[in-house]
Amino acid sequence: MEKRTIGVGLISVGWMGKVHSKAFQLLPSVYPELGVKTRLVMAADTAADRAEYAVEVLGYEQFTLDYHEVLQHPDVDVVSICAPNFLHAEMGIAAAKAGKAFWLEKPAGRGAHETEAIAQAAAEAGVLSTIGFNYRNPPVVEHAKQLIERGALGRITNVRGTFFADYSSEPMGALSWRFKREFAGSGVLGDLMGHLVDLMQYLLGPIAEVNGMTKTIYSERPILQMGSGTHFDVIEGGEMGPVENEDYAGMLVRFAGNAVAADAIGTLEACRASVGPRASYNFEIYGTEGSIKWDFERLNELQVAIGRRGEHLGYQRVMAGPGFGDFSHYYPGAGTTMGYDELKVIECRKFVEAFLGGEHRNSNIQDAVAAARVVSAAEESAASRQWVAIAPTSGTTAAIRA
Ligand SMILES: NC(=O)c1ccc[n+]([C@@H]2O[C@H](COP(=O)([O-])OP(=O)(O)OC[C@H]3O[C@@H](n4cnc5c(N)ncnc54)[C@H](O)[C@@H]3O)[C@@H](O)[C@H]2O)c1
Repeated sequence: MEKRTIGVGLISVGWMGKVHSKAFQLLPSVYPELGVKTRLVMAADTAADRAEYAVEVLGYEQFTLDYHEVLQHPDVDVVSICAPNFLHAEMGIAAAKAGKAFWLEKPAGRGAHETEAIAQAAAEAGVLSTIGFNYRNPPVVEHAKQLIERGALGRITNVRGTFFADYSSEPMGALSWRFKREFAGSGVLGDLMGHLVDLMQYLLGPIAEVNGMTKTIYSERPILQMGSGTHFDVIEGGEMGPVENEDYAGMLVRFAGNAVAADAIGTLEACRASVGPRASYNFEIYGTEGSIKWDFERLNELQVAIGRRGEHLGYQRVMAGPGFGDFSHYYPGAGTTMGYDELKVIECRKFVEAFLGGEHRNSNIQDAVAAARVVSAAEESAASRQWVAIAPTSGTTAAIRA
């Protein structure tokens, strides 16, 4: 079979830039049925050493310090945007105007207004978008989605989601762009709560209203230059600067819901400064006939309890294996453990499949709008101490609504 070559452009060569690049490199061997080869054409970063690294180590043919050159390159078919949040709107809109399909990291902009502006530009240009909502992709999460949709849990009544991480639990952890409103927008709301909200809307349908609270646990951190190191760095004795956004956010939610989750209610919490949970991205979903729970720290396991009579009541541990989501593309037998990077290869597969005219199973910019509206409403609610209603959107989360 003649293979189609997909020309890849990359904007920003930080952690996510590397992860996206590896995903494009693995795509032809992990998903030969797509019939594609990937060609890493050009990468951009304003930090020259990172731009050079893209050529020398990641395998791009060219680098540039100006991302516009990536968008103008005729051999670039699809572009990954992995810049800090404050550049997402500018870059997403520029990609759309250049007619390039884009894979944009979350949060897509610094709040609902910026996300909506990207969505409008993508719609006007008719370009495909995919958002970095990778927690949709673990094979056991896909299995959970099927259990929910086929009614195995009965009517979904309530949920509890906690996305707790320790990446900012160190008081001398670096003041990266993530802690500044100008560069990140909100704090853990955009960073982790956006993931959790998207995952809940993916599984249960749209959230209709929220009541939120936020807290900043560490008000100052040591200053870090953009493009040098990450928020995981610990700096002793450096000059301190103010943290401008929240470390913790919690909210009560009411779902409009999909066919099996109408009027479900629950609590969603996110924290970046917890001591103990390392990256404990967890949900518990309760229905009239059963319950499930999942934690990213045990990525390949789903706890499932179905039925209220019989000998073996309570949660059973179900492990991912062939037959669950994309598992068999990675490992021939159950028990081998998948990891974070592989979730991004699955995301890349969904993006490229849609780009080639196949089924749209990818998250899209409308899903990002749906998540951003909930996150912005939580911020508004935290300030006003009132419930805030959320305007409905289209997107894959709304598409499964009854
Ligand atoms: N989906 C996920 O699970 C996940 C995980 C981590 C980060 N992210 C998101 O990915 C994005 C990037 O995060 P990261 O951890 O890779 O950040 P990072 O700090 O490691 O890298 C950001 C890079 O952007 C570059 N940059 C800054 N200005 C630029 C410009 N004008 N043009 C080109 N490059 C520029 C910096 O020099 C740096 O190399 C963020 O939006 C973040 O929220 C998503």
